[in-house]
Amino acid sequence: MINGYIDLRSDTVSVPTPAMREAMASAEVGDDVYGEDPTVNKLQDMAAARLGKEAALFVSSGTQGNLVSLLAHLGRGDEFIVGDRSHIYLSEAGGSAALVGAHPMVLHNHPDGTLNVDEVTAAIKPENEHYAHTRLVCLENTHNQCYGSPLSAEYVKQIADVAHAHDLMLHIDGARIFNAASALGVPASALVKEADSVTFCLSKGLGAPVGSVICGTKAFIARAHRARKLVGGAMRQAGIIAAAGVVALETMVDRLAEDHANAKRLALRLSAIPGITIDVDKVQSNLVFFDLDPARGIDGATFSARVAKHNVRIGGTAYRTRIRAVTHCWVTQAEVDQAADAIAASMA
Ligand SMILES: Cc1ncc(COP(=O)(O)O)c(C=O)c1O
Repeated sequence: MINGYIDLRSDTVSVPTPAMREAMASAEVGDDVYGEDPTVNKLQDMAAARLGKEAALFVSSGTQGNLVSLLAHLGRGDEFIVGDRSHIYLSEAGGSAALVGAHPMVLHNHPDGTLNVDEVTAAIKPENEHYAHTRLVCLENTHNQCYGSPLSAEYVKQIADVAHAHDLMLHIDGARIFNAASALGVPASALVKEADSVTFCLSKGLGAPVGSVICGTKAFIARAHRARKLVGGAMRQAGIIAAAGVVALETMVDRLAEDHANAKRLALRLSAIPGITIDVDKVQSNLVFFDLDPARGIDGATFSARVAKHNVRIGGTAYRTRIRAVTHCWVTQAEVDQAADAIAASMA
């Protein structure tokens, strides 16, 4: 429950835990632009170790993490391969074009969030003055718009092998990489082993109020550092917010399976409600997508207004009758049941 609502609009609505607030209040800080904030340094070291990378950089958001990563990998006019349902392509205000000057080569995302390996190979341009230089492939794990599907380590390796054989880099938008790891029962480091860079978010399922972390080689992170400065993302006593990130990594990762069980429970309940279509098997992490029968004339906005009367918040999606509900640390199993009851009443 958050502010009196069972809030299933996103995991980004999660608020900091009491332990996070305490850590923030007592955080040791310094000027991070001088590299002197001990709490930021601790968070970066923890993140790099956890993902098996040489170095890490604290940034303000997932969007900034992806933007800074693209800036560090690409020059103006370079091409990057990206999925048509990916957050980088769809939901980051066109930053890759507006601020990086990079050229997206957009491939179809399958419903499980993957790109076809042969299509990726075919999309890589040979050296020819007509073509942009293809430099990077981007994957998203879990894949938000593709049912929150986790991409396996084996799949990531296939894409990495193709990329590296052609001297391309691989970036993973791992906003929810710990959800992917939990869903697949592997350490997050196994899912990013083959990647040259990865961004993950502290302020989604991990519950911190602000922040994301980019991980990669020391050389890549040095370039990312400069790119973060370029976009105004260098912060001073950022240890105040990094402190919550430290608590998030220490205490919130191992509990994500609870959110996934709650998502599955919600999906099962929804599958029994007339007027709702849902593929329960597609629910593998904390995102639950379902469709309202168009014949009922209830669009996303009407649905949201109806459930809000029961103190439940759920948002629509860009598709009029497709709805997304997201479980997180502030939604209990009992509240999932309450939300399902509210949805049933709203469809009646
Ligand atoms: C897959 C994915 N990547 C990146 C982001 C961006 O994160 P932020 O909202 O912190 O900018 C999101 C946000 O929902 C996301 O779902």
